[in-house]
Amino acid sequence: MAPATTFSMQILVVALIICSLSLFCSAFTSQDYSDALDKSILFFEGQRSGKLPSNQRLTWRGDSGLSDGASYHVDLVGGYYDAGDNVKFGLPMAFTTTLLSWSVIEFGSSMGNQVDNAKAAIRWATDYLLKAATATPGALYVQVGDPNMDHKCWERPEDMDTPRNVYKVSTQNPGSDVAAETAAALAAASIVFKDSDPSYSSKLLKTAMKVFDFADRYRGSYSDSLNSVVCPFYCSYSGYHDELLWGASWLHRASQNSSYMSYIQSNGHVLGADDDAYQFSWDDKRAGTKVLLSKDFLEKSTQEFQPYKSHSDNYICSLIPGTSGFQAQYTPGGLFYKASESNLQYVTTTSFLLLTYAKYLSTNGGVATCGSSTVTEENLIALAKKQVDYILGDNPNKMSYMVGFGQKYPQHVHHRGSSVPSIRAHPGRIACNDGFQYLYSGSPNPNVLVGAILGGPDNKDNFADDRNNYQQSEPATYINAPFVGAVAFFSSKTATN
Ligand SMILES: *[C@@H]1O[C@H](CO)[C@@H](O)[C@H](O)[C@H]1NC(C)=O
Repeated sequence: MAPATTFSMQILVVALIICSLSLFCSAFTSQDYSDALDKSILFFEGQRSGKLPSNQRLTWRGDSGLSDGASYHVDLVGGYYDAGDNVKFGLPMAFTTTLLSWSVIEFGSSMGNQVDNAKAAIRWATDYLLKAATATPGALYVQVGDPNMDHKCWERPEDMDTPRNVYKVSTQNPGSDVAAETAAALAAASIVFKDSDPSYSSKLLKTAMKVFDFADRYRGSYSDSLNSVVCPFYCSYSGYHDELLWGASWLHRASQNSSYMSYIQSNGHVLGADDDAYQFSWDDKRAGTKVLLSKDFLEKSTQEFQPYKSHSDNYICSLIPGTSGFQAQYTPGGLFYKASESNLQYVTTTSFLLLTYAKYLSTNGGVATCGSSTVTEENLIALAKKQVDYILGDNPNKMSYMVGFGQKYPQHVHHRGSSVPSIRAHPGRIACNDGFQYLYSGSPNPNVLVGAILGGPDNKDNFADDRNNYQQSEPATYINAPFVGAVAFFSSKTATN
């Protein structure tokens, strides 16, 4: 009997290996991914600032920030709070919008009826970004709220009484990083609305072109002029070169105007086209730009963009164990690991780029070259699936890091609105300092921020479900945005068990 046992053990081991690499064996069904897709979009309703519409589904939230901009005689009502606080930060909001739009552009056809909710989530941001870009000629409003004051309070957005200072970049105090990301967001969104709302789409594209011109003409980093209110929160550590190339690339894709192709060719070398880059975040756009521009080489044989395909391959190889160029870090449970704070933002951007690159490759033979070996489209999809499944609960803790998904998920989310009783349950004001009892409470959050993906576990797969551990327990719009596209991809695959 012994040989047979060994043989069946071998089969089991082989099956497990195939399982871990294959779409044909999964912890989740396509219905599960659809459920996660719905929730990943619903999360954005919890982050809304401004006057909520009658079809608001997260009903524990109310109107907030209704006079944002008023004391400066501009209308800056609307947009999103970035994370667990009540500040509207322009750089991550614009990046979130770009990635939500990219999600719909690549994977909208897999979203079913959720595509309308995804478009509503984009529009909530672009309505605000259009105001921020056009309210004052020669300026772009990039932030509402003083983060140092905001962080001294634990208040619901509906009660917020900290200074709603407004910050802008201008010809004298440039911010090419935030402006070029805003241009990228408006350009990407113009593609999303091209068929369903052509006039809105054209307004987005025209504004994107103007904002990009402003970003390029008046060069500088917003971290210089606005240092005390954007650093260390959303300091532009990577500078503005990456955003200029990224913005031009989105305008190239959205407008098909040859002037952006010329811009990319003549400025690319100075703006980072020749660098290899191994991360993609609200700060550093280099890897995303490589993948975005490789599309034209792969699908249209645009030879000028061949180097972007090579750099995309290098980026991809860095993620694939066993290939030359491999340099990523994974936890023992298999999670891509980049940083101790808000690590899942890198996991969701990486998963999105893997799937997007797989899609672009599929039109052109389907392989990335890593030294003497090749990596297939299927390899990229399998790695992305491993990351998505980990987030949804297929991990050593058997815990979903998406709030409200699955049987076990974090209860102590670092989020003011979610942790303080809702205005529906407690209409009376809960002032700045009175809210801290809810930050420090051991009780679960009373309002479930459905769909929020949190910062996530550490490099050993450990996660403390502790509201005061913001590194792990805080959600952010830019963690969710690329996940929307990634989970949409898997929701349309039927080969799951
Ligand atoms: C192309 O873009 C340039 C600015 O970069 C603009 O001046 C020109 O009008 C655009 N052309 C078209 C056809 O939109």
